[in-house]
Amino acid sequence: MSTGEPKPSLAETIEDAPLTGGGPYAARPTFKQKVINHFKRFWWLHLIVFLAVGLLLTLLLIFVGFPRIAQNGVSDSKLNITSQAVSNPTPKSVDIDLVSIVSSSSSFHPTLDSFDAALFLPAAGSDHPFGHLTIPSLKAAKNSTVTVNQTMQIVDMEQFINYNEQVLSNETYQVTLKGRTALHEGRFPVTHVNFEKTTTLKGLNGLKGFKVQTFNISLEPLSDGSNIQGSVFIPNPSVLTITMGNVTLNLAVDKTPIGTSTIQNVVLKPGDNVLPMRGISDQAAVLNLITSKYKDGILPVNITGNSSVYNGQHLPYYEAALQSNVMNTQLDVGKALAQIGINISSLTGGTGGSSDSQPSSAAASSSAGSSSSSPPSSSAAPASGSSASSSSALLPADTSGAALPGFATSTNSGLRVRETPAAIVL
Ligand SMILES: *[C@@H]1O[C@H](CO)[C@@H](O)[C@H](O)[C@H]1NC(C)=O
Ligand SMILES: *[C@@H]1O[C@H](CO)[C@@H](O)[C@H](O)[C@H]1NC(C)=O
Ligand SMILES: *[C@@H]1O[C@H](CO)[C@@H](O)[C@H](O)[C@H]1NC(C)=O
Ligand SMILES: *[C@@H]1O[C@H](CO)[C@@H](O)[C@H](O)[C@H]1NC(C)=O
Ligand SMILES: *[C@@H]1O[C@H](CO)[C@@H](O)[C@H](O)[C@H]1NC(C)=O
Ligand SMILES: *[C@@H]1O[C@H](CO)[C@@H](O)[C@H](O)[C@H]1NC(C)=O
Ligand SMILES: *[C@@H]1O[C@H](CO)[C@@H](O)[C@H](O)[C@H]1NC(C)=O
Ligand SMILES: *[C@@H]1O[C@H](CO)[C@@H](O)[C@H](O)[C@H]1NC(C)=O
Ligand SMILES: *[C@@H]1O[C@H](CO)[C@@H](O)[C@H](O)[C@H]1NC(C)=O
Repeated sequence: MSTGEPKPSLAETIEDAPLTGGGPYAARPTFKQKVINHFKRFWWLHLIVFLAVGLLLTLLLIFVGFPRIAQNGVSDSKLNITSQAVSNPTPKSVDIDLVSIVSSSSSFHPTLDSFDAALFLPAAGSDHPFGHLTIPSLKAAKNSTVTVNQTMQIVDMEQFINYNEQVLSNETYQVTLKGRTALHEGRFPVTHVNFEKTTTLKGLNGLKGFKVQTFNISLEPLSDGSNIQGSVFIPNPSVLTITMGNVTLNLAVDKTPIGTSTIQNVVLKPGDNVLPMRGISDQAAVLNLITSKYKDGILPVNITGNSSVYNGQHLPYYEAALQSNVMNTQLDVGKALAQIGINISSLTGGTGGSSDSQPSSAAASSSAGSSSSSPPSSSAAPASGSSASSSSALLPADTSGAALPGFATSTNSGLRVRETPAAIVL
């Protein structure tokens, strides 16, 4: 096109001369005159060239420039997930209710068609999505809100487990959303763009700060088999709401299991969560600990996930994540025992030993949940069991009235422990 314009002007200088000059004696036309004459004669050529160039530029803009501008606009936009609720979990799917903001600094405000987006961990790559969501049609603006509320099928369990492990244990985690869709902008032809956004979110950070806020010990298990009732405090620094169903946790001290704890119908909301908890403790093991190593009655408990069950179905992705996460908390068993009239300092104080050794079988028979101990027996029997002997010896003789999960049943016997520490044999 650049050669098109000069050409006529070269031709013109030659052909022009006879027309304007009229002969060798005529005055030579000034440069200005020549230009004017040229345009008078060849205006049509200039118009054609102008239009052709304009058309070419327009076509380039539309078919090369615009798709690039459109793609850049989409690529430069940011995705910020402001809330995400995961509910109705099944072993194969979860419902996701997600609100996000796509912010763009572009002066174009195109519309994107609804599209299918793959969700994956950036490290795993787009070949390994754990699920897909349908992103609704969106009109780009400075900030446009995108709301998704649908069931997501889990297409790759291993990846979904990895994802949930990161969500649970990391302070922050990243997830990528990727799809391809049609973009409409005014009268420009429809163009296709890749939508690929990696967004960084706050995770649950290992549930750091988890603690058993209050708990009571029941000497006799309740109808559900629990002998610990209380509440747990779970901070959730993320924007996620997660429905996990009935979550059972393993409790251990120095790798010795001391029981399990179940939190029913867990729905972790952003912020602080206080949820009721029921536990089944191996009271023999607990007694053993507080009379040997932890005489202050405060047990440093390691908590790991055991199961996550929703409507009777195990949720492997939450279970794997919970099982890989260790939480630590302190259980003030001494305080809980004091509430039911058992003074731990009298339990642990009598180190002197005594001949008044009348072991009770109660200690040996731990609560319903732990089956490792000897079978429960309602009558006092000689403690021939090896592991249980130290804790069983703690108990006063008059506990034979009932089958006891490790502790004396009646307040009477509890009082007696307090009154006569000499009866305690360590
Ligand atoms: C995302 O949105 C939240 C809440 O609106 C805001 O606090 C946060 O700063 C935003 N993050 C980014 C990266 O824009
Ligand atoms: C868009 O959102 C950002 C934070 O996400 C906020 O700072 C900004 O003011 C918002 N802009 C508009 C026009 O709403
Ligand atoms: C999401 O969809 C479910 C049913 O599909 C509906 O019950 C629920 O209210 C919806 N949530 C929101 C926030 O729209
Ligand atoms: C999550 O935490 C692990 C271990 O701390 C770390 O290697 C990984 O990079 C973190 N992932 C993200 C996305 O921050
Ligand atoms: C624990 O016991 C106290 C007093 O005995 C009672 O007020 C409280 O409700 C109990 N808590 C639980 C979780 O059972
Ligand atoms: C168990 O808890 C103790 C005390 O809180 C802590 O020192 C220890 O590291 C924990 N063990 C694990 C495996 O996290
Ligand atoms: C869950 O708890 C049960 C009963 O205490 C136990 O047999 C099982 O091994 C535990 N599973 C895990 C993964 O901790
Ligand atoms: C949790 O367990 C209780 C008692 O077994 C049951 O009634 C409830 O439906 C369970 N919750 C869920 C979400 O499965
Ligand atoms: C427990 O017993 C110790 C000594 O045996 C005593 O000093 C303390 O006051 C008792 N505590 C309670 C709450 O009775």
